[in-house]
Amino acid sequence: MDINAKSLLDKLNIEHSLTVDEYEYLLNHVDDELMEAAAEYARAYQDKYYGNKVFTRGLIEFTNFCRNNCYYCGIRRENHNCERYRLSKKQILECADAGYELGFRTIVLQGGEDFAFSDEDICDIVSGIRAAHEDMVVTLSIGERSRESYEKYYEAGARRYLLRHETANPALYAKLHPAELSWENRMRCLRDLKEIGYQVGAGFMVESPGQTNYDLAMDLKFIEEFKPDMCGIGPFISHKETPFAKEASGTLNTTLFCLSLIRIIYPQVLLPATTALGTIDPRGREKGIQAGANVVMPNLSPVSVRRMYTLYDNKICTGEEAAECRGCLEQRMSTIGYEIVVDPGNRAGLVQ
Ligand code: 5AD
Ligand code: FES
Repeated sequence: MDINAKSLLDKLNIEHSLTVDEYEYLLNHVDDELMEAAAEYARAYQDKYYGNKVFTRGLIEFTNFCRNNCYYCGIRRENHNCERYRLSKKQILECADAGYELGFRTIVLQGGEDFAFSDEDICDIVSGIRAAHEDMVVTLSIGERSRESYEKYYEAGARRYLLRHETANPALYAKLHPAELSWENRMRCLRDLKEIGYQVGAGFMVESPGQTNYDLAMDLKFIEEFKPDMCGIGPFISHKETPFAKEASGTLNTTLFCLSLIRIIYPQVLLPATTALGTIDPRGREKGIQAGANVVMPNLSPVSVRRMYTLYDNKICTGEEAAECRGCLEQRMSTIGYEIVVDPGNRAGLVQ
């Protein structure tokens, strides 16, 4: 293990802050021993704030129509081989009911940027779920909107919003997205969401095409400074119908190391072991939890539409019913000594 890297890790564990250059140094000098040292620090915080409890969020992927054309994403508008679907309000409410029965106390409504759902439609769905289950926390993950729209959703009862920043480097952002999308607007959205009072989830892809360790270091610095309540990260995975079809996917180890570092940077953060991590390694989600993650997000969407929501190739869990995924995850977590709980899963220390 590189001695300077170990002392930087120790410094991070005390100060919860490093310079971008120092984060880059850690990423450049990682080996198995440094990874394990980081994971040990990360698990100590995980244990302090969450014990062996793992939070769940039930994911409802309610539309795969998207007006955007991100180069990495399988549901980009120019993928004409993507079979499109929208769930009806009734179907969405049924998924939420089923999720409630299965013990989920928070659901994530995720979709492409599909403006066929008006703000009124979104508000109607949010308030419908809230009316049916008063102790269900509703999370939205529907992309970039105006501040006014975000305010309307909040008034309708949504309390959390997931919007990954994708990369903290504007230059890399411009390589991953067409010019019609801007890093500045992404950041504007994240700031608006926080100011309105949402619990906010940011996050990034690990080893996306062209990403350097310096870029990743910028992401870590961004998390340190912005302090999102949740940070969703997963490896980039290529999708055959995108411009990035031939690009290499991200790796397990870099993702695990980033998870541990994020836990050390912000000990109370909500950190999911993502489906993408479970896709690149059969025990990816378990390994993610052991690296410091404390959330899993199984799918509640009807099985009939699951395979149409493929952001990347070989996505797992496209054939399983919601109850199967829940059971599968419970079992997976118990093999590593963790337990899934029936709980809204707030960030430790959250002031509401
Ligand atoms: N590989 C990994 N993650 C992806 N996402 C989109 N496309 C891919 C891909 N090819 C992630 C993005 C997005 C989230 C919903 O899924 O980070 O914000
Ligand atoms: Fe879906 Fe294991 S979590 S099958």
